[in-house]
Amino acid sequence: MIERLAIIGVGLIGGSLARALRNADAVEEVVGCGRSLSNLERALDLGVIDRYSQDPGAAVEGADLIFVSVPLGAMRGIFEAIQGRMRLDAVLTDGGSVKGSVVADARAAFGRLPTRLVPGHPIAGTERSGVDASVPELYRNRRVILTPLPETDPEALARVDWMWRTCGAQVSHMSVAHHDEVLAATSHLPHMLAFGLVDTLARMDETDEIFRYAAGGFRDFTRIASSSPVMWRDICIANREALSAMLGRFSVELTDLAESIRRADGEQLLGIFERAKAARDRYRDGTGQPSDPIPIESPAAGDPETP
Ligand SMILES: NC(=O)c1ccc[n+]([C@@H]2O[C@H](COP(=O)([O-])OP(=O)(O)OC[C@H]3O[C@@H](n4cnc5c(N)ncnc54)[C@H](OP(=O)(O)O)[C@@H]3O)[C@@H](O)[C@H]2O)c1
Repeated sequence: MIERLAIIGVGLIGGSLARALRNADAVEEVVGCGRSLSNLERALDLGVIDRYSQDPGAAVEGADLIFVSVPLGAMRGIFEAIQGRMRLDAVLTDGGSVKGSVVADARAAFGRLPTRLVPGHPIAGTERSGVDASVPELYRNRRVILTPLPETDPEALARVDWMWRTCGAQVSHMSVAHHDEVLAATSHLPHMLAFGLVDTLARMDETDEIFRYAAGGFRDFTRIASSSPVMWRDICIANREALSAMLGRFSVELTDLAESIRRADGEQLLGIFERAKAARDRYRDGTGQPSDPIPIESPAAGDPETP
């Protein structure tokens, strides 16, 4: 049981965690924190939190579990604000989409890595934001990746592990660097393709006509371009090394594809499409390699998506 849970950033991710833990009767009191009163009042009305403070330091006082779910660019400021205000035995964890930057921010803010910090990332989400988008089932049967460090207290890790399993999630552990590389490939790159495609089309002269006649495939592929621009700016900057490497690899593939099309090289095109279809079907049918850390989710409308 969590006695007092402090949620810093009561949006889609933080709000859904609070709702899931409440539904499971796993938390006694939830204290919210954010900048805008309107979102916090809404969280109160919806019963997601019991009370709130706009001061992160005040919000974490007396909390035994603290979950930070603000955009990555705001993490360091939050860590600085709660430093020295937490209970000594409080467990601190987060839901940020990139782990290297969160660890670096914590190290900078606290002067060293707190042993009761457990960096984490729920592989679940939608393109919507704010507490109104939060749902208690968001994490059910979804993966959560924890990236414990050599300094991490095993008891704190076990507590965060338990918290996510209580929300119905499947928890795995991996290193910070591996997490950031895997997510660059499976989530960050696809979001860049969706943002880039929609931006290209939006700047063409025939934009209205293009969007009017867009079919289901276009809607499925580009749904994630409706995600929060601030969150994605922060993810790109925080994971710039791994994401740049993936974008470089993909650029080579795209150039090859363009060249095959220009040459009308049907054999080459068929080879690319058959390889891609076989790989995609293997994952969809659930027969992908069991060691694969994250199955590729269908981007069909309404499916949970994650950064
Ligand atoms: N969306 C996804 O699919 C997804 C999935 C996995 C992980 N994540 C990660 O989860 C985190 C939160 O994402 P989200 O989708 O929940 O975003 P969100 O719905 O926009 O929620 C973020 C919340 O943080 C608050 N906030 C922003 N800056 C703040 C600051 N400086 N101090 C205090 N509160 C602040 C915002 O409220 P105010 O504006 O009122 O302050 C908002 O309620 C991000 O780090 C993201 O990378 C997101």
